[in-house]
Amino acid sequence: MSEAVAPNLVAAVSEQRQWDRLMQMARLGAITGADGSPGVNRPCLSPLDREARRLLIAWGESIGLTPSIDALNNLFLRMEGREPGLAPVLTGSHMDSQPAGGRFDGIWGVLAGLEAIQAMREAGITPRRPIELVAWTNEEGGRFAPGCMGSMAYAGHSAADTWDAVEDGEGIRFGDALREQLALEADLPRRPLGVVEGRAPHAYVEAHIEQGPRLEAEGQDIGIVTGIQGSRWFLVELRGESAHAGTAPLSMRRDAVQDMLRAITALNALMDDPTDILRFTVARIEVHPNSSNSVAERVRFTIDFRHPSATVLTERGDAIAPTIRAAVQHCEVTVTERFHALPVDFAPQVTEAVARAAAAQGLRALRMPSGAFHDAQFMVPLCPSGMIFVPSRKGISHNPAEYSSPAQLAAGARVLAQVLHEVAEG
Ligand code: GLV
Ligand code: MN
Ligand code: MN
Repeated sequence: MSEAVAPNLVAAVSEQRQWDRLMQMARLGAITGADGSPGVNRPCLSPLDREARRLLIAWGESIGLTPSIDALNNLFLRMEGREPGLAPVLTGSHMDSQPAGGRFDGIWGVLAGLEAIQAMREAGITPRRPIELVAWTNEEGGRFAPGCMGSMAYAGHSAADTWDAVEDGEGIRFGDALREQLALEADLPRRPLGVVEGRAPHAYVEAHIEQGPRLEAEGQDIGIVTGIQGSRWFLVELRGESAHAGTAPLSMRRDAVQDMLRAITALNALMDDPTDILRFTVARIEVHPNSSNSVAERVRFTIDFRHPSATVLTERGDAIAPTIRAAVQHCEVTVTERFHALPVDFAPQVTEAVARAAAAQGLRALRMPSGAFHDAQFMVPLCPSGMIFVPSRKGISHNPAEYSSPAQLAAGARVLAQVLHEVAEG
């Protein structure tokens, strides 16, 4: 079914309520950025994450939604449809943040879904299909790498126990943190992980801030997201030998920091891209013993490599380990791939519904791919999936200065409401 506008529904979306909820959530893990901006640090599976989820559940229950969780602690809030036996439409995003993150990445997609559902209730709409609001566990990968664990396990991309041994910065294992959280949530109904009774969702629609500069620069209100580029994450460990900085001759050292520099220099050459499409980032480095006057015995560093072409992603990604091995001179090397998300294209059923809703609401919309990865990437094999972007001020994200205005976010929630309504009638 397709309709131009659902006027009562669109009018029922409340800019103020959505903004107030965002600001309430932003208090859970509030931090101040280097420039004084109010940001958020809400690691996945932390007490703050749980507090945020409990707040979401309270808001959901107040409008008659039913909560449940699965074995990955993915949280679902269900609005029953006129035909409860039909496959549901899923919408949502994530509630965890980067360690120095903003107030909108992820959490807005969850609260926009809640706002859309609440607007349906207030407009007296019960959709034909159930709608489930989902908050995926650990999308960011900031505490436990990689990100998107909840959606990868839900989609059957990876087994549920894949990351049990992954440790956070304090040596806490993901499997232990997950079990602890699940025990605390014993009062919540449990649902099987993944597709229930062999029935995939009817569709998945995720709202998210753009996290890049295009919409603002081009004067657009809405991004009709056409797909997501591919990402690969690697962890590199170099093992040398510690020595006294004042006495050990340079010629005798097995210095892990110096070998890291050789490796990164070689990787920069491998990743050279005159078109500036490729993304290559080394951003987390651990040095042991991390002392000014001890030669580094061990270094670990991360690689985040992204490209929209599966061929480039495969060829250059596969060259990472040999390039490092050829570059290092003194250390033993281990390269572990921790994340491999192929580029995806979103389904016309969703992209065209987003385009129709934006047009019907008089919004300027741009078709664009996503440079960031999202849980939606893993839903693509399961069901027609897509995303809605709203502008990010100056394109800043993964930074406390991240900002989208109440009006921009309300426009996104109105588009989401109309898309969910249309898709849930289908
Ligand atoms: C998601 O947070 C990403 O790094 O793209
Ligand atoms: Mn996000
Ligand atoms: Mn993010």
